[in-house]
Amino acid sequence: MELLEKRIREEGKVLPGDILKVDGFLNHRIDPMLLDALGREFARLYKDSGVTKILTVEASGIAVAVMAGLHLGVPVLFAKKHRTANLSHDVYAADVFSFTHKTTYSIAVAKAYLTDMDRVLIIDDFLANGAAIRGLSSLVSQAGASLAGAGIAVEKGYQGGGDALRGEGMRIESLAVIESMDSSTGEIRFRR
Ligand code: G4P
Repeated sequence: MELLEKRIREEGKVLPGDILKVDGFLNHRIDPMLLDALGREFARLYKDSGVTKILTVEASGIAVAVMAGLHLGVPVLFAKKHRTANLSHDVYAADVFSFTHKTTYSIAVAKAYLTDMDRVLIIDDFLANGAAIRGLSSLVSQAGASLAGAGIAVEKGYQGGGDALRGEGMRIESLAVIESMDSSTGEIRFRR
């Protein structure tokens, strides 16, 4: 998506440790007009998929997910993060290993809000190794719901998580896919 790539080119900063800092419009300060456009694009891509619910994970996924939910006209459920496994019987839970932060956390949603009647679109701001998407997809399976696919704002394509999931048959639509980035020059190349 040209609009998003332009913002990343103009305002994104490549940090050592392979991190793309986009907190001027996505991860800290949020540009509602840009996110509205992202939500509209996800709605266009998934309009014929019978989506009944959006699923994301706190915190940064929520803003993008709400915009997608607004344009698809469906509710948005966000998984809550916990440092330890949530053992309550009232939730579906999964462990997620964050390669970026080198920690494992647990995500959970209330069983009451995700059911076998749902067809779910997973939305997230970043896709790197795919661990968060796998965790969210596990919650969908535990509920007996079906998965329409995932919509991602920024995929770090070279980390391979997205392509591995596509290879397993999951529909993944990423609005900007980074092919490579270089923290010494600041250069960012997008997949075409
Ligand atoms: P994965 O789910 O695809 O395997 O990714 P990983 O665990 O490596 O990423 C963990 C967190 O780091 C996620 O947010 C993810 O969005 C974020 N992240 C990964 N790479 C980048 C990057 O290059 N730039 C930025 N800005 N974020 C990145 P989180 O820790 O769950 O944070 P939040 O949603 O609470 O803000």
